[in-house]
Amino acid sequence: MRILVLSRNASLYSTSRLVLAARARGHAVMVADPLDFQIVVSRGKPSMLLGGVPTPEADLVLPRIGASITNYGLAVVRQFDMMGVPVLNSAVSIARSRDKLRAMQLLTQKRIDVPITVCARSPAAIGAALDLVGGTPAIVKIQQGTQGIGTMIAETRQAVSSLLETLWAMGQDIVLQEYIRESRGRDLRAIVVGGRVVAAMRRTARAGEFRSNLHRGGLAVKVTLPRAHRLAAIAATRVMGLEVAGVDMLEARGGPKILEINSSPGLEGIERASGVDVAAAIVVHAERFLESRARKATHREVLQRMEAVIDDERKPARRRRVG
Ligand SMILES: Nc1ncnc2c1ncn2[C@@H]1O[C@H](COP(=O)(O)OP(=O)(O)O)[C@@H](O)[C@H]1O
Ligand SMILES: [Mg+2]
Repeated sequence: MRILVLSRNASLYSTSRLVLAARARGHAVMVADPLDFQIVVSRGKPSMLLGGVPTPEADLVLPRIGASITNYGLAVVRQFDMMGVPVLNSAVSIARSRDKLRAMQLLTQKRIDVPITVCARSPAAIGAALDLVGGTPAIVKIQQGTQGIGTMIAETRQAVSSLLETLWAMGQDIVLQEYIRESRGRDLRAIVVGGRVVAAMRRTARAGEFRSNLHRGGLAVKVTLPRAHRLAAIAATRVMGLEVAGVDMLEARGGPKILEINSSPGLEGIERASGVDVAAAIVVHAERFLESRARKATHREVLQRMEAVIDDERKPARRRRVG
């Protein structure tokens, strides 16, 4: 098939791994920067240009949409969706997972556990919000943060107040969150592809840091997920509607607590730590995804044809009645 990878830069580790894995399985692959597309909105015939000329035909789109270009990147993905090109992950599922508060609302609605999270917007509410998350230390998060940037720990009530007021003044949407002390700077990352965990790692924050992100100097080791964590990761991915996801979880006393679901998980850390060819797993799933879409389409066509036949059969009866 012809795969189009949406990525800012073809030489990024994850992008080049996807390209190599797809070529190894005999597919034609092209990489395009989402910002190079021109979206053409017109009634009944959505289209898109790439650098001023019609977008090359693709059977499937693999978006890697970073946080810095979320809005434009999502609009491009949505346009492919509207043009009937299968996308792995869809724009709506990416948007759902990218906003931490929205993601947690959806997860808890399905009874999936998360750290207690409070969203407030007025200084008067800070005291009560802090009590709800169990006091200090507390975690303050920018709703659209990634790679550990935008996630902070506040040790005192004054620190929470000044952090929140500063971030509000800067126009940032934030949440206040219960600090899961027993995780001690460790978390689990599961890569879920097509409803299955294909790789997992435990990340440990470097000394003096509570964030275990590899971008923040965390160390990763391969891990076999406990059953509860495996099931939680799969359930969380399903709630978001993602085909490919990196799910971050804390190992809390009462079981897994989901932190966030990444729709474009980095492949470098997980492939190194787990030894799994995650890129190949994504391409294999893309093949299956396309096949099942084609099957569904044929099924739809069969139904439409049947309806047409039934309609045809009804016509003489109607005519008879009219006559
Ligand atoms: N409530 C929490 N309790 C303890 N540690 C946390 C909590 N929230 C985040 N962390 C740590 O901070 C890291 C980054 O948080 P996360 O919500 O995943 O943001 P990001 O999108 O920046 O990765 C996590 O991987 C985890 O190690
Ligand atoms: Mg994270």
